Amino acid sequence: MNCNESEDADHEKWHDVCAVSGGGDIQVLECDGRFIFATVENSKWRVFDARCPHHGTNLGFCEVRGAVVECPLHGWRFDLRDGRCTRFGTQDLTEFKTRIDASRVFAWW
Ligand code: FES
Repeated sequence: MNCNESEDADHEKWHDVCAVSGGGDIQVLECDGRFIFATVENSKWRVFDARCPHHGTNLGFCEVRGAVVECPLHGWRFDLRDGRCTRFGTQDLTEFKTRIDASRVFAWW
């Protein structure tokens, strides 16, 4: 392990994102100062960073239509069910590792 790995490990931790619910919806949440998208399908929770991977625009303030959010800066479009970039761009949303504990969803960043 080098120094950078050690520093990263010191700063990353599990974040309590939301309660486990029935699912199907896409939630836009602010958690510990970061905007995120949380979604569940077939009991599998996924949590994505709401920062556009192009230049970091906060997509948490953008309108979500169905399962799609579009970045207002350059028009990259993302499917919030899987984080895929579906228009213009070359990078998907960053997905965080998740776990369920005591009926809460936790994400790691
Ligand atoms: S910053 Fe989002 S598409 Fe450029």
